[in-house]
Amino acid sequence: MDDEGLEVGALVALLKSQKVRAVYVTPHHQFPTNTVMTAARRKRLAALSLEHGFAIIEDDYDHEFHYEGRPEPPIAADPDGANVLYLGSLSKILAPGLRMGFIVASAPLMERLVALRLASDMQGDAAVEYAIAELFEDGELLRHLRRMRTLYARRRDALATGLARRLGSVLTFRVPSGGMALWVRVADEVDIARWEQAGRALGVLFKGAGMLDFAGRDLQFLRLGFTYHDEDELTEAALRMARTLKR
Ligand SMILES: Cc1ncc(COP(=O)(O)O)c(C=O)c1O
Repeated sequence: MDDEGLEVGALVALLKSQKVRAVYVTPHHQFPTNTVMTAARRKRLAALSLEHGFAIIEDDYDHEFHYEGRPEPPIAADPDGANVLYLGSLSKILAPGLRMGFIVASAPLMERLVALRLASDMQGDAAVEYAIAELFEDGELLRHLRRMRTLYARRRDALATGLARRLGSVLTFRVPSGGMALWVRVADEVDIARWEQAGRALGVLFKGAGMLDFAGRDLQFLRLGFTYHDEDELTEAALRMARTLKR
């Protein structure tokens, strides 16, 4: 991938030499870099899925978290169609412990998925599902989302401001228009592992992005979430990170 999301050209090259059955993407915000896949790339990927008969698994896990302007529509909304299985989650908007989400897919695929689900769980959690459906229907969930978006935008700004002020000489990042974390480039001279270890003594916990790399490489990046803590805590975290680095 690059700054525009998945490199569809690379996929085209791969399709020439290999059968591809499915492509998993998080186009709204690529996890973990937060990159938004452009509308043009989405369109090409959608067309390719029809042409080559592979499935797109579109994991739209944080669709609701967009703070400025309108987000790009999901690939699943492409009016020209796509071979797409769309996933939504309630983990970010309500609670991960609910273990609840939803799928939009073609009827035959849905039948297969339901059969698989039935094989492992006959009942589901109907009481909680009905309660959540009510939250959708009476508009409470939408109100909740509006409140969350305002709050999270403020938290994003608090962390971005704190980091720019205290650590601007060693960190580079864009303030994203959506998502739940900042993807931050750390200057080469900083040893992230030592910094992170020293942070513990000052009560600030963060981790290098290496844990998010399939190959486990040490990457000079941090993914810093901003949704969990309030503005004062985020400002304090940036301050402690800066103090730790000085030490
Ligand atoms: C990329 C991605 N997809 C999906 C999810 C949500 O998964 P689930 O709905 O199983 O909690 C997350 C949550 O962290 C995520 O990071």
